[in-house]
Amino acid sequence: MTQAYPIIDHQYDVVVVGAGGAGLRATLGMCAAGLSTACVTKVFPTRSHTVAAQGGISAALGNLGPDDWRFHMYDTVKGSDWLGDQDAIEYMCKNAIPAVVELEHFGVPFSRTPEGKIYQRPFGGHTRDYGKEMVARACAAADRTGHAILHTLYQQCLKHKAEFFVEYFTLDLIFDDEGKCCGVMAWNLEDGTIHRFQAHMVVLATGGHGRTYFSATSAHTCTGDGNGMILRAGLPLQDMEFVQFHPTGIYGAGCLMSEGVRGEGGYLTNSDGERFMEKYAPNAKDLASRDVVSRAITVEINEGRGCGPLKDYIHLNVQHLDAAVIHERLPGIAETAKTFAGVDVTKDPIPVVPTVHYNMGGIPTNYHAEVLSPTKDNPDAVAPGLMAIGEAACVSVHGANRLGTNSLVDLVVFGRAAAQRAAELIKPGSKSFQLSKNAGQKAIADLDALRHAKGDLSTSEIRLDLQRSMQKYCSVFRTEKTLQEGVKQVTRVAHSFEHVSLTDRSLIWNTDLVETLELRNLIGQGLATMVSAEARTESRGAHARDDYPERDDENWMKHTLSWVNHTHQTTVDYRPVHTYTLTNEVEYIKPQKRVY
Ligand code: FUM
Repeated sequence: MTQAYPIIDHQYDVVVVGAGGAGLRATLGMCAAGLSTACVTKVFPTRSHTVAAQGGISAALGNLGPDDWRFHMYDTVKGSDWLGDQDAIEYMCKNAIPAVVELEHFGVPFSRTPEGKIYQRPFGGHTRDYGKEMVARACAAADRTGHAILHTLYQQCLKHKAEFFVEYFTLDLIFDDEGKCCGVMAWNLEDGTIHRFQAHMVVLATGGHGRTYFSATSAHTCTGDGNGMILRAGLPLQDMEFVQFHPTGIYGAGCLMSEGVRGEGGYLTNSDGERFMEKYAPNAKDLASRDVVSRAITVEINEGRGCGPLKDYIHLNVQHLDAAVIHERLPGIAETAKTFAGVDVTKDPIPVVPTVHYNMGGIPTNYHAEVLSPTKDNPDAVAPGLMAIGEAACVSVHGANRLGTNSLVDLVVFGRAAAQRAAELIKPGSKSFQLSKNAGQKAIADLDALRHAKGDLSTSEIRLDLQRSMQKYCSVFRTEKTLQEGVKQVTRVAHSFEHVSLTDRSLIWNTDLVETLELRNLIGQGLATMVSAEARTESRGAHARDDYPERDDENWMKHTLSWVNHTHQTTVDYRPVHTYTLTNEVEYIKPQKRVY
């Protein structure tokens, strides 16, 4: 029988779940607009995964040579392999410029050019003049750009008197009788209390789900908790098959070696010492788009030209760079390579492999950050009371493949957009909620059941099973055979969760229970990823099918929607890509062959 859990009630205009770059930018904007805002977060804000972003944030400032937001838009559309929605991409690239200037004014300590402007470095797939030559567009704070932005945004939130609920695990969304989202249920890890946050708007800024995979640059906390809540609410996720493998994760450890390393002149070599990217991307070479570089590395390894005793990694070289440049521009890289690979980067190459890094898919939204609940009649129908931003969301500005540095700009542009939209929709202080007495009871019953689960499998065993299955069957290259087996294996893992057993049954600092709740979220997303990938019979961006090697615009210029119900049954459907721009300042960029 479910134990009675006293509920502590709160009422706000807005509840933001998550305190990474997107969550903090939204929180700040909501507070500045006079909306009472609670930011509920499972980790201390400055420990959110944005802190790990290294190389930069893209904006066509043109500080190191001519640039234009239209070039940025073209590169992003091409990078997305034409799956991105061009209205949203236009919005992001145009607003990137004021968003970065605003960050500078907030106090982000960007690196500087000799004239004192924000320093910018080249990054993969970023060009000027519609692909003619590489451009320096990544605004950088050395190789710790995410760290600088996150700390600055947190300080700005404190200045605006945002209210934080730190180390609270959000369990589920709550809805009113009309189906409008009206809050969340959360568990306070410190004292075990259960909280019901009521609000006119819930903003999910809960990050990606890199930890569905075995080897990821993502923090262990990246478990896509908001996406899990969306699936349990009967809403779909979008484009989940598009999982980005960053070309350069440290072999064995998975830590990110920023693309900024190649932006500063680093390059990749195989066991023959060959700079192999010249074969795969004759113009952009090592600075081709990430999916292209990750596939090239995988081919080199698969064809026997990998390095090391097992020939299963590639070398990233910076030994030729001036030590002063490494010290000034890449200090974090040098430190991480020393700690996790034992390499002195001024003397030896770094062993790297493609490593899961980013989820292009997530909660479908429009460019105002409003969550979509697509119907046949209206594929852009909005789910009232609900927004999603950052890696949790699929706006879709990244389409089938994200360009490096477009994630940080996505966080701040759409965090800001969410606040602007909420300010239009909500009158500050208009708190009159009509919740039924039972609101949130299902979330509590589920928590109680998991807390007392007495199966024969530990959370870590099931999680490892999931992560190994995702890594094996839904990797850089996929086929019908691997994906069919993947669906079978992940479905089996999902059912095995019914046999989970917890060692700790308390509600106070029960990390076993936290990990079990996270695993529940990961499983739904693993299933959604696998079935979406199995269904898409073409190659586009990060979804590379050996059995369907070409992009198929005639049949597949559409977003995948995937639902996973409580018995792990899946449904897949589609909604159209937006093949129009937001304004007439720019024309729709027609699909072309994607070469770098
Ligand atoms: O390579 C990097 O520094 C990562 C940047 C990004 O994912 O945007």
